[in-house]
Amino acid sequence: MDRSNLQRVVALINGKGGVGKTTITANIGGLLALSGWKVLIVDLDYQANLGLDLGYQGTEVDDDGLALAQALTYGVTPKPAYDVRPGLDVIIGGAHIDAAAAALVSKAAQGKLEEARLSVAMMLDQIAAKYDIILLDCPPGNDMLQAAAVAAARYVLIPVKTDEGSLRGMKITADRLDSVLDLNPDMDLLGVLMFGSSTSATNVRREFSEQVADALGGAQATPEMRSEIEALVFTTFLRHSEATAKKARGSGLLVHELDNQVKAAPKFWEQLRAGLKPQSVGPASAEGVADDLQEIAAEVVRRIQEKEHANGGVHV
Ligand SMILES: Nc1ncnc2c1ncn2[C@@H]1O[C@H](COP(=O)(O)OP(=O)(O)OP(=O)(O)O)[C@@H](O)[C@H]1O
Ligand SMILES: [Mg+2]
Repeated sequence: MDRSNLQRVVALINGKGGVGKTTITANIGGLLALSGWKVLIVDLDYQANLGLDLGYQGTEVDDDGLALAQALTYGVTPKPAYDVRPGLDVIIGGAHIDAAAAALVSKAAQGKLEEARLSVAMMLDQIAAKYDIILLDCPPGNDMLQAAAVAAARYVLIPVKTDEGSLRGMKITADRLDSVLDLNPDMDLLGVLMFGSSTSATNVRREFSEQVADALGGAQATPEMRSEIEALVFTTFLRHSEATAKKARGSGLLVHELDNQVKAAPKFWEQLRAGLKPQSVGPASAEGVADDLQEIAAEVVRRIQEKEHANGGVHV
C-alpha cells in the first residue's frame, strides 16, 4: 500500500501490561499538541485507560470504541473526538474493540490475513494527512490488534519497566516486530523508554540499558553494532511517582496540567490564614514527572527528525 500518509505514525507497544504505554501516549500527545502540532491518538485498548488520563471517559464523546470498531471491521472512515485538548483528537477505545478484534481474527482465518493485518493502516490512511503525528496506544494482550498497529506504524516505541519480567516482555515484543516487515518494510524501532525508574538509581538504569542492549542482540554484535543498539535506549526516562500518577489519572489531568494546578493553588499557610481547612490540590512530585515527560516528548521529536533527516524527508 501507499504509505505516504503514514510517515508519522508511532505505535507505543509492549506485550507486557502496566509499563506506561497509556501514560506516555496521553502525555506526549498532549505536550506535542501544546507545542502546536496537530495530534491524533488512537486508543486500541478495550480497557480505555486513555480516557481516564485525558478525562473524557464517560462523557458524551465516549462511545466505548464503537467508531473505532466499525472502522476496523467495515472500513468506514472513523470520526475522532475532536479537540480533547486544543490540537489533540482521539479515536476512542473501549469495550467494542473486542468484537472488532474477533472479526479481524475470523477475517484472517478466512484467508484474508493481509487485509486484517492492514486494518489499522487502512483506517489511518483515510485521515492521517490532517495530522503532524499519530500515536497508537496498544493493548497489552490481543495479538491481532498489536500486529495491526505495528503494521500501520512508521515507528515503534517500547516503554519498559526496569524489572526482569519487563525485559522479557520487551524482548518478545521486539522479536515480533520482524514479522510485519513483509507488510511494512519501513517500520523502524524508535527506541526503548524506561518507565517508573527511581530518579536516584543511575546505576540501575545504566545496568538496565546494558541488559536491554543485550536482549536486543547486542551481546553478539560487533562493537559498532553494539553502540547502535545501545543508542536505542532513550536517554530520558519517566521517574516513579505513584502519588502523581494516581492523582493525574484520578482527575483526568495530564501531568503538566496537574503540575500547573499545584503551582497555582494557594499554599497551605495561605489557606490557613484565610481560615480554610488546608487541602492539597496534588503532590509536589508532579513537577519532576512533568519535566520528565517534557524531556521524553522532546526526545521523541528529536529521534523522529533525525531519522527523517537521514532519509532525506522534509517535514516540520
Ligand atoms: N511515573 C509513574 N510512576 C509510577 N506509576 C505510574 C507513573 N505513571 C503512571 N503510573 C501508573 O502505572 C500504571 C500503569 O501505567 P499505564 O496504564 O500507563 O501502563 P500501560 O502499559 O498502558 O498498561 P496496560 O498494559 O494495562 O495498558 C497506572 O496505574 C499508572 O497510573
Ligand atoms: Mg494502557
